[in-house]
Amino acid sequence: MAIVETHDLTKVFNGRKAVDSLDLEIEEGEFFGLLGPNGAGKSTTVAMLSTILRPTRGTVTIAGYDIKRQAKEIKRLIGVVPQEFGLYDELTAAENLIYFGKLHDVEGGKLKDRIDKLLRLVQLQDRANDLVKTFSGGMKHRLNLVVGLIHEPKLLFLDEPTTGLDPQARLAVWELIKRFQSEGVTILLTTHYMEEADYLCERVAIMDRGKVIALDSPARLKRSIGKLEVIEVKARKVTKKVLNELRKLKGVRKAARTTEGLRVLTPAANEVMARVVTLASFAGVQIDSLNVAQPTLEDVFIKLTGKTLRD
Ligand SMILES: Nc1ncnc2c1ncn2[C@@H]1O[C@H](COP(=O)(O)OP(=O)(O)O)[C@@H](O)[C@H]1O
Ligand SMILES: [Mg+2]
Repeated sequence: MAIVETHDLTKVFNGRKAVDSLDLEIEEGEFFGLLGPNGAGKSTTVAMLSTILRPTRGTVTIAGYDIKRQAKEIKRLIGVVPQEFGLYDELTAAENLIYFGKLHDVEGGKLKDRIDKLLRLVQLQDRANDLVKTFSGGMKHRLNLVVGLIHEPKLLFLDEPTTGLDPQARLAVWELIKRFQSEGVTILLTTHYMEEADYLCERVAIMDRGKVIALDSPARLKRSIGKLEVIEVKARKVTKKVLNELRKLKGVRKAARTTEGLRVLTPAANEVMARVVTLASFAGVQIDSLNVAQPTLEDVFIKLTGKTLRD
């Protein structure tokens, strides 16, 4: 039995569908990702699955419990790590964990063991009795990650757990959440970072405008690019106008702007590269480099929507 099952799950805000008829099945023990740009409906989905937000339509079961009738049972099984810190600055690290433990009826020796274990996991055991307000941003971030694990949930929701972190801190968080999974916790992670979904998730649902537009393992999603090749163009000053002209070039299937320049999907990379160079020189765009790249999940998104995850 799947630990998460949704059918036709929908949320309408002010007449607009934030989540549009989602059918998902997440297996127990799985590391599952929702990947999509801002506004795709990821947080709304997590809020519904974690009983915080009432669906407009559709059904959800978590470990067989119905979200509408058995929210109490579900709350015992799930942990939520929200994007915003839920920590109390004026309490120590240990006191924060005690507070959240008691909220979940974890007490006594069990609570103490759990706190020791979690603080060790995030390498804060030496800071257990220090006020959170004395912590660095990275330390707060690590502590925030384990608060949702205090009651040993079977299913953990991580909503954009590395947004805003520098690359090194991000790597540390990745290693940590992989460890959560290896302890038997099923994980549902949301992200708009395609490297993150690729690295961590066993299966990824790519979301756009409230809908799942692709769902598979990262490897199979990347293979779904099929015979298309990806040209990675590093260039400055790529205007919307240049992008539109590029999209009209013969052989160009899809093109989108990235932070570094452009990505172009084409069945004939060599021919199209020459055309891109010519267009760029006419348009006064300076190309720093141009090469055929391995497809990424970003390219899968570009292929399906014509835009990048950051658009
Ligand atoms: N409480 C709300 N009221 C009205 N609109 C909302 C609310 N929460 C989210 N939305 C809208 O729903 C859509 C999906 O938002 P969200 O689930 O936060 O996306 P994501 O987490 O993927 O960035 C967005 O268009 C957003 O503006
Ligand atoms: Mg969100």
